[in-house]
Amino acid sequence: MADLKETRDYANFDPYWYVECNGIEEMEDDLDSLHRIFNECDIRGKRLLDIGTGPAIYTVISASNYVDEIFLSDYAPQNREYLTKWWKGEISYPKDIIDYVIEEENRHMTTKQREDEIREKVKGIYPIDIMSKQPLGFDINDNKFDVIVSGHCLDEVAQNITEFQRCIQNVSSVLNEGGFLIFSCDFGATYYQVGEYKFPGKSFTKDEVKQTVLDAGFSILSYIEISAIGDKYWDAEGYYYIVARKN
Ligand SMILES: C[S@@+](CC[C@H](N)C(=O)[O-])C[C@H]1O[C@@H](n2cnc3c(N)ncnc32)[C@H](O)[C@@H]1O
Repeated sequence: MADLKETRDYANFDPYWYVECNGIEEMEDDLDSLHRIFNECDIRGKRLLDIGTGPAIYTVISASNYVDEIFLSDYAPQNREYLTKWWKGEISYPKDIIDYVIEEENRHMTTKQREDEIREKVKGIYPIDIMSKQPLGFDINDNKFDVIVSGHCLDEVAQNITEFQRCIQNVSSVLNEGGFLIFSCDFGATYYQVGEYKFPGKSFTKDEVKQTVLDAGFSILSYIEISAIGDKYWDAEGYYYIVARKN
């Protein structure tokens, strides 16, 4: 990995590389975790916001059975463009990822039917900056979300634990009381690869992350830890999903 160029600039994030190189082998544990979380934690709500979707809609496959409306979001314009093409049906998400979830759900339908079902629930694709006090760039007043999902984003964006605390507070500001926050976080990572670039990893401890969530006024409902040793495109020891409910 010595010849990868280090960057923090998300303009260097190539959505096509990212989807191609994060196939079913890399995604199984995430898909299992999300399937389990939505089945076992009684997550329900009308409006779901996925934060830092990138070009990867795996975070909303299981979720789509439990909410009425889905909003995707990302900071990088090229990722939002990719998502828009996917939403319009110009791009398909990898078939084996969708099929894997269909099988977990024990449903009998084609990949296209399941993918179109998700597309129909998507009601918007927003620019977002979780470093901002107004992450969506407007005051959402009485129109907050009931469920927020975020895969491998919050800890990638925050450069230190103080910024992570701010990000959690900013994210919480668009979530209804009683709403659910489901996110994954890496540990032991120094970088993750996207194309010819490497984005630096962070090293918040699990206890720091949990305490941040509690201090921001959430109760933790579930914690699932996964080993990542041997993964090709990052050097994390592992990652975990936290399911929390806003008090
Ligand atoms: C590692 S990717 C995760 C993508 C996808 N959610 C997944 O799990 O594979 C991190 C994402 O965070 C987005 N991002 C970067 N800065 C951000 C910010 N300030 N606010 C929200 N998202 C941001 C990036 O554009 C990128 O899509």
